[in-house]
This record gives sequence, C-alpha cells and structure tokens, in this order.
Amino acid sequence: GAPAEVAVGKIEPGQLVRAEWRGKPVYVVRRTEKTIADLGNHNDQLRDPNSEEAQQPEYAANEYRSIKPEFMVALGVCTHLGCAPTYHKGDFEQHVTGVTDGFFCPCHGSKFDMAGRVFSGVPAPLNLVVPEHSFPNDDTLLVG
Ligand code: FES
Repeated sequence: GAPAEVAVGKIEPGQLVRAEWRGKPVYVVRRTEKTIADLGNHNDQLRDPNSEEAQQPEYAANEYRSIKPEFMVALGVCTHLGCAPTYHKGDFEQHVTGVTDGFFCPCHGSKFDMAGRVFSGVPAPLNLVVPEHSFPNDDTLLVG
C-alpha cells in the first residue's frame, strides 16, 4: 500500500496529529525540548526501556524510537487489546508520578511514555509499534 503523508511543518511543540495508515491510527507528536530531555529520566519505571522486544524499524532503534528526536511516530494501538491510548499533555502525573506527558489506555489502564514505551505494572506487554517512516523534506512525514 501507499505510504500515508503527514504535513508536519505546522505541528506545534506538544501537539499530537492523527494519521491513518493501512486502516490503523498513527500518532505523530512534535515533542517539546522538555519531553526530549525527560525521556531518559524514567527508564527504571519502564518494562522495556531499550525497546529490545518492541517492534520498530532498525533506524528507529534508538532512545527516541524515531528518526528525528523531535517527532514521535507510533501506532495509536494499545499492545494489550488494541484500544486507542489517550494523549495526556501536562497532566499525565495523575497516572505516573513525576512524568508530565504520556499516553493512557482507557480500556484497562496501560500507560506509555512519549516514546511509546510501556510502563511496568500494566496489562500491555509491549511498547507501541513504531511503523516505517521517513522525512522526504522538513514539512513532510511519510508513514509506511
Ligand atoms: Fe489498552 Fe487493554 S487495550 S490496556
């Protein structure tokens, strides 16, 4: 199938944009500088902080799980039973103390950080899936 094209040039820092690829929701977030800086601060609370069991392209097997640290690209599909996790910007501490931004799955309470990594102690077994993606130019993200 054709890749999904996402216009990323006007996404504000902290903003999530939803796309669709092969019938699945894709979450694209322009991470803030704080989010990028915070990614390394809660590894001890994550089930698989280095994404060793997770699904991501080889070029995204890094601490950001993406090509550009500024952009998170992940399927918006909980790895438990497939619900859509809700983005919490600035008010995630109600779910994880000390972590201001993240994703909460309303179905059974799984929690993911701003790289789609799952927190320990929740039903979801794996980090969110990072699909193939590329940036043909600064304004365009291709998913798939
Ligand atoms: Fe997300 Fe069950 S589907 S926690």
